[in-house]
Amino acid sequence: METTLIILKPDAVQRGFIGRIISRFEDKGLQIVGCKLMQISSELAATHYAAHKERPFYPGLVKFMTSSPVLVMAVRGMDAIAISRKMMGATFGSKADPGTIRGDFGVSNSFNLIHGSDSPEAAEKELGLFFGAGEVLEMDRAIEGWVYDMSAGTPE
Ligand code: RTP
Ligand code: MG
Repeated sequence: METTLIILKPDAVQRGFIGRIISRFEDKGLQIVGCKLMQISSELAATHYAAHKERPFYPGLVKFMTSSPVLVMAVRGMDAIAISRKMMGATFGSKADPGTIRGDFGVSNSFNLIHGSDSPEAAEKELGLFFGAGEVLEMDRAIEGWVYDMSAGTPE
């Protein structure tokens, strides 16, 4: 099982898409194991997007991410990182396929609604940045045996 960090960015929150985007993760069978609204500080945005520090879009990206509250989620499931990235779609709404979150909810080449960790290493680091001790939960799901085939003892 993997846990990934998903951020519903300021445009998703302001446009009232929290419920519809969370529903897509729940519908897919992924489990929400952490969730909160928060205001990202400049320092946190800088740490989170440190890899892009030298890119021309970096100042605008930090300004966008700190412009209004975001909703952060810890999302768990088998291959949760890759599945979430597929559900998000290509980086920009103008390019993202219909059926993806970015493809269905946006057209912008800047405001792109959602972030998802892109590797297990990134997920672990990012979950540590956005969630404190005890904020990502271990919880049994009553439906687990219908979401996954558990007949061999492990989720398939
Ligand atoms: P994210 O990290 O937010 O999940 O998005 P991503 O993996 O699809 O894209 P990434 O290359 O990591 O870029 C991080 C964020 O920077 C903004 N960006 N702007 N104007 C540009 O050329 C440009 N390129 C990237 C986007 O907000 C992107 O989500
Ligand atoms: Mg990225």
